[in-house]
Amino acid sequence: MPDDRVHAAGEIAALRAELDEHLHRYHVLDQPTISDAVYDQLYQRLVALEEQHPDLITADSPTQRVGAKPLDAFSEVTHRLPMLSLGNAFADDEIAAFDKRCRALLEDAVGDELLEYACEPKFDGLAISLTYVDGLFVQGATRGDGTTGEDVTQNLKTVRSIPLRVRTTARLLEVRGEVLMQRRDFELLNARQAAKDEKVFVNPRNAAAGSLRQLDPRVTAERPLSFFAYGLGLTEGFALPDTHSAAMDLLAQLRFPITTERAVVLGVTGLRNYFEHISKARSSLPFDIDGVVYKVNKLALQQQLGFVSRAPRFAIAHKFPAEEATTILEGIDVQVGRTGAITPVARLKPVFVGGTTVSNATLHNEDELRRKDLKIGDTVIVRRAGDVIPEVASPILSLRPVDAREFVMPARCPECDSAIMKLEGEAVARCTGGLYCPAQRKQALLHFAQRRALNIEGLGDKLVDQIVERGLVHSPADLYRLGVAALSSLERMAEKSAQNLLDGIAASKQTTLARFMFALGIRHVGEATARDLAKHFGNLDRLMDAPLDELLRVNDVGPVVAQSIRQFFDQPHNREVVEQLRACGVHWLETAGNAAVDAKGPFAGKTVVLTGTLSSMSRDDAKDRLEALGAKVSASVSKKTDFVVAGAESGSKLDKAQALGVAVLTEAEFLSYLNPTE
Ligand code: IVH
Repeated sequence: MPDDRVHAAGEIAALRAELDEHLHRYHVLDQPTISDAVYDQLYQRLVALEEQHPDLITADSPTQRVGAKPLDAFSEVTHRLPMLSLGNAFADDEIAAFDKRCRALLEDAVGDELLEYACEPKFDGLAISLTYVDGLFVQGATRGDGTTGEDVTQNLKTVRSIPLRVRTTARLLEVRGEVLMQRRDFELLNARQAAKDEKVFVNPRNAAAGSLRQLDPRVTAERPLSFFAYGLGLTEGFALPDTHSAAMDLLAQLRFPITTERAVVLGVTGLRNYFEHISKARSSLPFDIDGVVYKVNKLALQQQLGFVSRAPRFAIAHKFPAEEATTILEGIDVQVGRTGAITPVARLKPVFVGGTTVSNATLHNEDELRRKDLKIGDTVIVRRAGDVIPEVASPILSLRPVDAREFVMPARCPECDSAIMKLEGEAVARCTGGLYCPAQRKQALLHFAQRRALNIEGLGDKLVDQIVERGLVHSPADLYRLGVAALSSLERMAEKSAQNLLDGIAASKQTTLARFMFALGIRHVGEATARDLAKHFGNLDRLMDAPLDELLRVNDVGPVVAQSIRQFFDQPHNREVVEQLRACGVHWLETAGNAAVDAKGPFAGKTVVLTGTLSSMSRDDAKDRLEALGAKVSASVSKKTDFVVAGAESGSKLDKAQALGVAVLTEAEFLSYLNPTE
């Protein structure tokens, strides 16, 4: 060999090893140590050397991942060992039955001991098999019908986390696993597709399937696919360990990507804990899973258990409830919200989806309903992922009956018969009945009483329905005039619970200006705005009378919000409700407001940190009151902190304050500073 060639061969080998190392760090360990630019430089150097010495190109060179020619068709591959499926279970008792069955069949081997299981996520991708002969990746195949699949070797080579060569003495090594697209990659791909006006994919699984089954590997190379190994197929000359989990460790050592979400557990309790853990982690995993897989861990026991028809007896998939189902859209009703907004609601033939039975789903507004092209009578796809509210995703047009009906927005409110109107430029239609409309009145009361507003304990929607329908309460002020006698006449309301509710109502009288402003339910005045308003004005009369330009000076208040506030207080009946509430004893601490904070008070200009639980008020209320007195409330203790207010169970912040010598106030001291006269 001429010197130059020997030299090149050495450099090529070193570059390949280095590039493989970086691919592994980047795609498998998720811990890159060099930048993409440096990687590209090394890669280009290898390309150049291989161009000069084409005879030194080998199949496992990183340069051979891309550039293969498009195929006319995939050829068939007969699997050396069939690729089986798994039995499914959804309920805990099916899992208990699985464990019992395994134990019964293994009685002699395990006796009274708990069985050890390897637990893994059930990847929601495509099953594939990778064949390595003498360490070289020679063939990759899809599962197909389990006996024969398609040869997608060229495409799998483009998946950077799949090693092209492994350091093993095994003559034959078959690795099984799943190809999938991680969620972030899926979002990026879809954004890219949309920008090019090309097909977007409905979910990561479809995107992965579509990408893997491309005849042109250059297209696949552009698609960000991932791979996770979960088992072995046939091996020759490979020393198998005793357990599945150890086999996975070995594969990880050979640089195959293995999920870190796996665990080895004991018995049914262990399985249940793992399932709970993964159910919680599910939404934050970087990829979709549709359940978990439990495998008897000892390979010898797996062998003993064997197979039934097309599935192993030693493993089972514990699946999450399906998140999509089809059902019939039987009707569309409308619901009236607190501000009169009319929301169309789908009445569905009850269907079990995402773990619960769904029979209603909001359709948001008329435009949305038209955009989705939903008609009454349609067969529709209902989706409910995790804890989110169920959604009608789309109709199945091929199943649309000839008599399917369009939804027609009613002209009058179903609750109060007032006209329904849609303002220019607004997506929602509204009932014009205002507080005359019982539906709006109920919602307004619930809004008023909610925890973050006046916080009336025990006033739920069933109760509100009754007190409004019986005409006991028209406005929030009426709540403060209720007596035990009136309440005890209600359904399911004993004297004791009536008294509890009255206590709750009485306790709500002491509040803050911010809560009160939020409770009024002024359009566009949410909790944060209410707080800003309270901070700025400090006093309700000043706020009610503030001209627009003064309102606009409040933090985060723009013209729409300012207008809405002005309009609200310009209505005499709204002012009347406010006066009645004050007359009933609803009160708060008034201050001079931001503009004129008491410059002499103990908290003026001071930085205060709240920690632990206060028994007399919530953390937010304490913050409001401190801010009203000119304090800056900060989240962490530092040398700049002037006071730490320590409630019950104060933790590290209190320790830190003491370490730094910051003044610490007990709750009692804090209250005495707040209300020097009380
Ligand atoms: S083990 C003998 N482990 O689930 C079968 N399969 O119904 C051994 N799957 O298409 C399969 N994640 O691709 C196993 N951690 C995992 C899995 C998993 C997903 C898929 C597999 C197959 C299906 C089996």
